[in-house]
Amino acid sequence: MLITMLIEEHPTMPFPADALFRITLGTVQFGMPYGKARRTQPPGDHGLVDILDAAMRAGITCLDTARNYGDAETRIGGWLAASEPKPLIVSKLPPIDIGDNDIPDHIEKCLTTSLTALGLERLDGYLIHRAPDLHRPGVVASLQHAVEAGRIGAFGVSVYEPQQLADALAVPGMGLVQLPASLLDQRFADSGLIERCAEQGVVVFARSLFLQGALLLPDDELPEHLLPIKPTLSRLRGLASESGCGLQSLALAGVLLTPGVESGVIGIANCDELEENLAALQSMPGNAVVEQARRIASGIPPHLLDPRRWPAFG
Ligand SMILES: NC(=O)c1ccc[n+]([C@@H]2O[C@H](COP(=O)([O-])OP(=O)(O)OC[C@H]3O[C@@H](n4cnc5c(N)ncnc54)[C@H](OP(=O)(O)O)[C@@H]3O)[C@@H](O)[C@H]2O)c1
Repeated sequence: MLITMLIEEHPTMPFPADALFRITLGTVQFGMPYGKARRTQPPGDHGLVDILDAAMRAGITCLDTARNYGDAETRIGGWLAASEPKPLIVSKLPPIDIGDNDIPDHIEKCLTTSLTALGLERLDGYLIHRAPDLHRPGVVASLQHAVEAGRIGAFGVSVYEPQQLADALAVPGMGLVQLPASLLDQRFADSGLIERCAEQGVVVFARSLFLQGALLLPDDELPEHLLPIKPTLSRLRGLASESGCGLQSLALAGVLLTPGVESGVIGIANCDELEENLAALQSMPGNAVVEQARRIASGIPPHLLDPRRWPAFG
């Protein structure tokens, strides 16, 4: 309710980072079969409503979605129509594969399509899904125009590499970023760029805290291409158990305790996973254990940490 009231009173206010919960609900799993470590099917309609209702009851205040997540926006829109208070919604502009002259119209159309699917007049956040698109002619001006028109609260970018974030931070008006981070992937934390985001007032969402779920898989379910990380996972499990927490709690702490990370975008396949993650949040270890975990997890080759470079499932 508070979020809705604030937005109604200040239609052009920046993204309300103070309203974020430590976990933001990722939604690609709601719109399409997902996962290169293990493939899950989207929940059915009742299952989806159960997950979203449970997430709201637990205090989650933001959903991360995208035009490219199958029918996730439409399914979320169906649920949003009947739910109050409404969470913050961040969606993403699909990759721009058209000529420069058509970009402003294209952005306008994509934004309208997302808003219509979600049944909203305004998105709280709108991210460029493919980071280099941010630098194409007319993109920033179109996004700023959408902010001024009250169609989006803030714009930003989803990145895979620290250099993409460094480039994005030079763009005026950037309000949000989503970046990959996990116990095994500390590139952004080590780069100093997350602190720079905080200094510039850019809200940082981290995703892939569980490396598409691979970090939580039992050893005998790890796909072949991820077998090289098995010894590291085993040592991390040992550390978690010595520290009186589970690997999930350690994985959450490994990212959420990074100064400047406002919220972790976590995807789930069902209500049980949501409950487990919320419970894990309550027993996160402190910084000393996280430091030990980071030392154990350092040095994993980057190709093992980037799901885009993993072989297709099956
Ligand atoms: N901007 C981008 O380019 C981009 C790219 C990818 C994702 N995203 C966003 O980020 C969100 C998160 O996706 P991600 O790829 O980063 O994945 P993630 O959050 O690292 O892992 C999610 C997967 O972990 C597994 N999981 C979650 N909780 C679990 C539990 N308690 N026990 C066991 N397994 C559990 C589930 O898969 P299983 O149960 O099948 O193992 C789930 O699909 C997505 O929903 C999407 O919103 C954005």
